[in-house]
Amino acid sequence: MTTEVVVKVRDGVQVIRLNRPEKKNAITRPMYDAMTAALASAEADPNLRVHLFLGLPGAFSAGNDLADFLVAAQGGDLGTEVWDFVLALAKVEKPMVSGVDGIAVGIGATLNLHCDLTVATPRTRFHTPFVDLGLVPEAASSLLLPRILGSQRAFAMLGLGEPLPAADAAAAGLIYAVVPDDRLEEEALALARRLAAKPPGALLATRRLMRGLREDVVARLRDEADRFRERLTSDEARAAFSAFLSRKKGG
Ligand code: COA
Repeated sequence: MTTEVVVKVRDGVQVIRLNRPEKKNAITRPMYDAMTAALASAEADPNLRVHLFLGLPGAFSAGNDLADFLVAAQGGDLGTEVWDFVLALAKVEKPMVSGVDGIAVGIGATLNLHCDLTVATPRTRFHTPFVDLGLVPEAASSLLLPRILGSQRAFAMLGLGEPLPAADAAAAGLIYAVVPDDRLEEEALALARRLAAKPPGALLATRRLMRGLREDVVARLRDEADRFRERLTSDEARAAFSAFLSRKKGG
């Protein structure tokens, strides 16, 4: 089992922390696997009421590990971990909270679209540069982002690849609140604990009513996954991954 995802339980809250500091929390296949397993086990545990995603100071997540994408781009196997994880996100029944500081790229941004309450620090920027990587959106972001932001602002993120600062994300209703850097985890945990203290039956029923059956979300996830797999082996994607992984820093 990877140590790059740390799962702990506090007061009825399952805390899932991304913990790969040297790669800014870029997510590998074992890390997706660990998160999917954590979601499944807490969903089945009546003592656990809420899932809380956290990253590290300055880096919630730099998104999918681009070395893994390059393997797939060169004809290797990407596996199913990423798709299993996004499907699990869409199907979770218990409330999900996230606390985001700094880097939130790719799945590090789109994961939050599945959360019920997200708090982020002022320096956080949600960045979805899929097109620049020769890819298409994932995690149903092609459906959920336009719903929340409207089509133009969503296209600025998904088409132009413009990052969205936390303050704008809060103003648009994409996240719940902006909180100071030094209070992020406290605030995120406090929200999760408040949810965990609610009557669970009423809370789950409310969430289910608000989210509906999610059939559209699951269908979009699958469509996106098909397009994404095609795009992964495109010359555009291969060139983008190679350029990132072979870039010279500080020069
Ligand atoms: N996949 C693999 N490695 C990654 C990564 C990713 N998504 N994001 C960062 N890393 C690695 C870097 O290669 C670097 O490794 P090294 O020290 O061995 O060279 C390390 O993490 C630190 O990253 P660095 O780029 O030096 O940090 P930074 O603070 O200057 O920039 C980012 C941070 C996130 C802006 C930049 O790393 C980036 O653009 N990453 C790619 C994001 C991305 O496109 N994700 C995929 C979305 S689908």
